[in-house]
Amino acid sequence: MKFLFVLLGMFAIASTCVRMEFDAAPSFNVIDYGAKGNGQTDDSQAFLKAWKDTCDASHGTSTLVIPKGKTFMLQPVLFRGPCKPSIVNIKLKGTIVAPNNTKAWKLPKSTRKAWIRFRHITGLNIHGGGQIDGQGAPWWNRYADSEINRPTALHFRECNNLILKGLTHINSPKNHISINNCNGSLISKLHIIAPDESPNTDGIDISRSSNIVVKNSKMETGDDCIAINHGSNFISIIGVFCGPGHGISIGSLGKNGAHQTVEEIYVRNCTFNRTTNGARIKTWIGGQGYARKITFKDIILMEATNPVIIDQQYNPYDSVHAVRVSDVSYHNVKGTSSSKHAIKLHCDKTIGCTNIVLNGINITTITGEKTYASCKNVKGVCASCIPHVPCLSHE
Ligand SMILES: *[C@@H]1O[C@H](CO)[C@@H](O)[C@H](O)[C@H]1NC(C)=O
Ligand SMILES: *[C@@H]1O[C@H](CO)[C@@H](O)[C@H](O)[C@H]1NC(C)=O
Ligand SMILES: *[C@@H]1O[C@H](CO)[C@@H](O)[C@H](O)[C@H]1NC(C)=O
Ligand SMILES: *[C@@H]1O[C@H](CO)[C@@H](O)[C@H](O)[C@H]1NC(C)=O
Ligand SMILES: *[C@@H]1O[C@H](CO)[C@@H](O)[C@H](O)[C@H]1NC(C)=O
Repeated sequence: MKFLFVLLGMFAIASTCVRMEFDAAPSFNVIDYGAKGNGQTDDSQAFLKAWKDTCDASHGTSTLVIPKGKTFMLQPVLFRGPCKPSIVNIKLKGTIVAPNNTKAWKLPKSTRKAWIRFRHITGLNIHGGGQIDGQGAPWWNRYADSEINRPTALHFRECNNLILKGLTHINSPKNHISINNCNGSLISKLHIIAPDESPNTDGIDISRSSNIVVKNSKMETGDDCIAINHGSNFISIIGVFCGPGHGISIGSLGKNGAHQTVEEIYVRNCTFNRTTNGARIKTWIGGQGYARKITFKDIILMEATNPVIIDQQYNPYDSVHAVRVSDVSYHNVKGTSSSKHAIKLHCDKTIGCTNIVLNGINITTITGEKTYASCKNVKGVCASCIPHVPCLSHE
């Protein structure tokens, strides 16, 4: 009997602890801060007030709640850290929309052009199955050729240990998601959608970041599905379905003579459906730095144009500089190309590309015709390649 009491007592204490912890984990609903969620009223101030309380909460975890069944219109906003909780959740169940025409946007001139910005937050965890709609169409029309005048939809800067999961992102004026100066991110189950003719609507752009995983996502956009830019390393892209769009791109690197680096990139189990490129590495003439240790593995091509392409902008003159491209491998790349010219490895005359490995390549045209490869100044190995890659040594 005594034993039973002790046991019950322990259980009571344990359950109280569990409940206390549960009760105490605070959550802040934007509705309680005056957000209307009617798709028209500017809800930015309500979001920022709710954010302040979420970020300042004296608890290990806190949650900002954006409820289901409502549409919140936001002007450009900055959610800033550092925050007190070590985990800050944003449970986005509803829809967030941008102003519906370019004149209605209150975009401060001084700051970078982005709509929803997160800065300097560790342990940010965004989930909930909701949607972020950048209302990009009026921007694409008004600034069709002027990328710098159009804002990014979602911008993360200095956000370590970021989790972004299960949201739908549509119609950004420019790129949908930008990851900048972040270390340690898990991005998964996203669906990114914009018309294939919409300009510069990249899915995810990653720069100056490390230890980023993007997986099990679908990206149908007008530009790169993922672009990996300067200062990024240890980036894994796994199970991403791309298309329409421009494929997965390393670079462009070295524009205007810049010294830029990218290394340790791992792309696996990705599909390119009617993309204008597949697995691409692109550098500019006269740049410096390197793109190296890059692997593309288990890639499925469905009518991709330029499925395998290294474009180290060919310089017909002797060059002093080029972004060095080395240690790049393509394993098990199969499927169809929309053109016969399936593999392009075009490297600089002086610097060249080294240790390029192709293994288990089989690319045909849609009608089953033979494809071909072209290369300039490339050193490496090819094992079991259809088409035959003339400049590589064969095993
Ligand atoms: C755009 O938004 C404004 C105010 O937010 C609203 O009055 C107007 O009806 C909207 N226009 C369209 C075409 O949805
Ligand atoms: C990223 O975080 C890991 C683990 O905290 C740390 O070891 C590493 O130095 C960090 N890298 C950068 C580039 O900050
Ligand atoms: C491969 O990627 C697809 C998405 O394109 C995903 O559904 C599937 O689970 C992935 N398979 C493996 C083995 O990772
Ligand atoms: C590939 O893209 C085409 C054209 O956009 C589309 O009709 C088709 O459904 C896509 N295939 C898959 C498997 O999603
Ligand atoms: C290459 O792919 C084609 C089309 O799918 C197929 O018919 C052929 O058998 C494959 N060749 C090899 C060596 O796997």
